[in-house]
Amino acid sequence: MQKGTIGKDLNLAAELLRRGGLVAIPTETVYGLAANALNPDAVLKIFEAKNRPRFNPLIVHVAKANEMAQYAEVPKLARRLAERFCPGPLTLVLRKKPMVPDATTAGNPTVALRVPAHPMAQKLLSLLDFPLAAPSANPSGYVSPVTAEHVAENLGDKVDYILDGGRCQVGIESTVVAVEDGNIHILRAGAITPEMLAEFAPVTLARAGAESGSPGLLPSHYAPKTKLSWGKLETLLEKHRGLKVAILAFQAVPGEQNIAAYEILSPSGDLREAARNLFAALRRLDAVGANAILAEAVPEEGLGIAINDRLRRAAT
Ligand code: TXA
Ligand code: MG
Repeated sequence: MQKGTIGKDLNLAAELLRRGGLVAIPTETVYGLAANALNPDAVLKIFEAKNRPRFNPLIVHVAKANEMAQYAEVPKLARRLAERFCPGPLTLVLRKKPMVPDATTAGNPTVALRVPAHPMAQKLLSLLDFPLAAPSANPSGYVSPVTAEHVAENLGDKVDYILDGGRCQVGIESTVVAVEDGNIHILRAGAITPEMLAEFAPVTLARAGAESGSPGLLPSHYAPKTKLSWGKLETLLEKHRGLKVAILAFQAVPGEQNIAAYEILSPSGDLREAARNLFAALRRLDAVGANAILAEAVPEEGLGIAINDRLRRAAT
């Protein structure tokens, strides 16, 4: 079979994964580039295909929250979070058990675990007797994929098969948290917001680029090829006067000349809709040949925190 074939054959996907292959899988957040998390050779192929720095650990996907205890120590607070938010866009960083290879955790004593909510990912995991390591299925540093076609465009020649589960419903990556001394530390903002987590324990949020964040969160990330600036639209337009710009707006675009293209994330101002549209819109704007993409900051609340985090990193 040709590399990068797109299809819905779960049994084929399972068989390729059993043989140590790479399969792109749909999740509710973004598409993942999956391999057997317990097979170091298979896991190394993920790093090669993405050109991912070897120090950046992978998320391990399991079928059910109660499987986490096979691979990690699960303290009480983590168990309560898992019971509430899994399956769903929450990743828990926990002390790993020896069976999880260093290749998967990049030598870290911890492993990141998550239960994806997408029915196809669920079905696939239930066919397998091992968990799936899967980072987002994009070349390292580029915009994450939210359709099977996005994966094919960027990694089609490197992946054995692409499982097509349609458009991702959440649209940005999971919230990554560590639990420590009864506190919840958000290492990467995502669809599970600080407010949702604060019901369980005190929450701290790692600053963009801070060393306390997750090891893979380089300040520069999620970046289109076109130079991107992020902030207030009027200020950005003023600074880029005379240039051919593409605009990523939250609710509306100011009337302007010289706009090569624009995308509106949510006319009604719904942050969930904005998150769902974010990466596909960025990819379209990246293709129009503008001198710059001007991305508007969204309200810094709820899901807006995660959206701004992605745009801030894309701008570095
Ligand atoms: O929604 C998602 O999380 C998607 C889907 C495919 O599940 N996956 C994803 O993977 O976004 P990736 O590799 O693009 O991002 C994983 C993040 C990175 O920032 C990585 O550094 C962090 O999780 N991470 C993984 N293992 C970790 C660990 N042991 N300690 C701290 N951070 C970890
Ligand atoms: Mg990623």
